[in-house]
Amino acid sequence: MNIAGGIISMDYEYEIQKYNDIISTEITKNRLEHSYRVAELIEEFSIQHQYPFPRKAYLAGLLHDIAKQKKTEELIPYFEKFNFPYWDYPKASHHAFGGAFYLKEVYKFEDEEILSSISNHTLGGKNLGFLDKLLYFSDFLGSEYAINNPNYSLWKKESLKNIYYGVYIKSYNVIHDLIENKEAIHINTFDVYNESINELKKEKENYGSK
Ligand SMILES: [Fe+2]
Ligand SMILES: [Fe+2]
Repeated sequence: MNIAGGIISMDYEYEIQKYNDIISTEITKNRLEHSYRVAELIEEFSIQHQYPFPRKAYLAGLLHDIAKQKKTEELIPYFEKFNFPYWDYPKASHHAFGGAFYLKEVYKFEDEEILSSISNHTLGGKNLGFLDKLLYFSDFLGSEYAINNPNYSLWKKESLKNIYYGVYIKSYNVIHDLIENKEAIHINTFDVYNESINELKKEKENYGSK
């Protein structure tokens, strides 16, 4: 750890090295490949969108699915420890919230910005932070579904231009998929979709008025 500008900041390279070893013991090979893809994508988006700590973003990408292979039952002790009402949240998001608690509890991981991005990477939410947004759509663009989609290049190109396009395209695809499968849609996902669509509209209007 070192102190920079009065804020305790992590030695990102040290942490990345440390979690390179740990993460391979926590998740399957397939999930590990996804995690590295997401880490590389989020670093690229961070540089493009001028998030100040691209290597910190890489670490968030590397860690985001640490609890993906754990069943809800295995995560319940962590939910209880942090008084988290997991029963109010869809099962698909348990690994996201659980992953943040698991990192805190088992590995004493303390960076709240990274923990927040991990918590929110599945459902999204209202007024997400910068890193939350970057991880939200990097996770999507690092998915096999996105990579194998004929629109992948367009999605990535537009997300490099505008962070809200990335947020929009993930939330759109999630909502579409949930409707197709007759599944409920969590309010956080509607919130993140609405925010992204409103931001994109605003920018269009601004361009139109110039
Ligand atoms: Fe995930
Ligand atoms: Fe993921």
